[in-house]
Amino acid sequence: MNTPERHPFLQGLSRHRGAPPTVLVIFGASGDLTARKLLPALYNLAADNLLPADFHLIGFGRSPLPDDEFRRSAAASIREFSRRAPEDGIWNPIAAHTRYLAGGYDEAAAFTRLRELIDELERVAGRELQTLCYISTPPTVFRPILENLGTCGLAARRRGTALATKVVIEKPFGRDLASARELNRAIAGVLEERQVFRIDHYLGKETVQDLLVQRFANAIFEPLWNRNYVDCVQLTVAEEVGVGTRGGYYEQSGCLRDMLQNHTMQLLALTAMEPPVSLDAEAVRDEKVKVLQAIRPLRLGPGGDAVRAQYTEGLSGGKRVPGYLAENGIRPGSATETYAAVRLFVDNWRWAGVPFYLRSGKRLARRVTEIAIRFKRPPGALFAGSDQYDLAPNTLAFQIQPDEGMTVLLNGKIPGLETRIQPVKMRYGYHTTFGSNTPEAYERLVLDAIVGDGTLFIRGDEAETSWRLYTPVLEAWAAAGREGIDAYPAGSWGPACADALLAAHGHEWRKP
Ligand code: BG6
Repeated sequence: MNTPERHPFLQGLSRHRGAPPTVLVIFGASGDLTARKLLPALYNLAADNLLPADFHLIGFGRSPLPDDEFRRSAAASIREFSRRAPEDGIWNPIAAHTRYLAGGYDEAAAFTRLRELIDELERVAGRELQTLCYISTPPTVFRPILENLGTCGLAARRRGTALATKVVIEKPFGRDLASARELNRAIAGVLEERQVFRIDHYLGKETVQDLLVQRFANAIFEPLWNRNYVDCVQLTVAEEVGVGTRGGYYEQSGCLRDMLQNHTMQLLALTAMEPPVSLDAEAVRDEKVKVLQAIRPLRLGPGGDAVRAQYTEGLSGGKRVPGYLAENGIRPGSATETYAAVRLFVDNWRWAGVPFYLRSGKRLARRVTEIAIRFKRPPGALFAGSDQYDLAPNTLAFQIQPDEGMTVLLNGKIPGLETRIQPVKMRYGYHTTFGSNTPEAYERLVLDAIVGDGTLFIRGDEAETSWRLYTPVLEAWAAAGREGIDAYPAGSWGPACADALLAAHGHEWRKP
């Protein structure tokens, strides 16, 4: 039976052993991410017995809050958002080690108080603790937090030892190449790269890690995984939801920054990278960066490699929903894209000439994240006598979410006295194979940060390489305003301009 403890994915790509005694400081302790993701992740790690025996939590936020109040609201968040119903026996020991500290992110004295509190926790614990800082604030205060961590001495604490301070940085990591570089410089001013853990939560998803396992733990894929056999690769990160209450944020971001430049590119890097020499963080990230570096600059303008669109009123989930321009917090005549698609070419030996199509959008027909490898069409000559001369191309599709699994599309014979061929699907489903209680992305990522494993985090050069590719597109779009922005009805599969991107190469989007 797959009890949570024995679940094979809990061990992931590397076994977690010896999580060091840790004090976790969450900056942005009263924020949405802390409530929805971080606290439930901690609870579930505790339930799986994966937190270090000596574990302390400090919530750091701007508003004053007594310790008890923070503990109560943390318990309420866990009750609301945890994948498991909370039990006192698991939560109470964490609560007993939970503190709250109020202070401004640019207030040096608050960081001195933080350091003193950590010193005091160490004294009481009677042992040295690792400090793990989780920056889960709006990006405007990333810099002052980093600087203050430097000034108060926490950034350099125990550097050179296994208990060196580590810092997790939430997205967005910059909004273009210049700002990402600036942020990297601010980081490098106070931390060594191996102390830094830039989050892309897609890397924490089980199915994304399974992609690496499928590619490198099976012998049958590698011989086919190249331009000789692959016709095109399609990556879809589709959402059914609109911008909801996040209009203000989204207006500053748009789909390319919010989804394509980060999450979708991570899927591409894992799909296209060469086998690393080991599953060590640097070996894996070196290979990912090489793929990103090999991508040909995008051609801009009409007929180019990048298209964008905005949703208009339509039917979503059986309900009539407003268009983007009528959502709350959206500027009149906004040119922010809610859909983006690109055609990329990875100019290296393995992939030369194979188009990679990436698309993402809000208010699409349904929520689905999928990586589809479409192989070249088999020659149909043998079956020329039948009416199925045009055989369907074999397709291997990784369903990252929600219906997690993998399908292979093959051609099969329909039973009968004549030869009639039909595409058939073979499927490996996660839930039927492993049960449905899989860990959330943040559980894996928080645990990896505690043990100091950076494999599933973005390295500084990786972030910059991706921004280098997309910054010219963002600049061109900003200069063009609404000119060239297409429209698609909410609840559809996206705009016509995205179909044209593929049609130019004789391809069409897969219906996920
Ligand atoms: C976030 C984006 O990074 O990812 C959101 O800011 C998006 O706009 C979310 O909805 C999607 O994440 P998931 O895990 O639900 O696919």
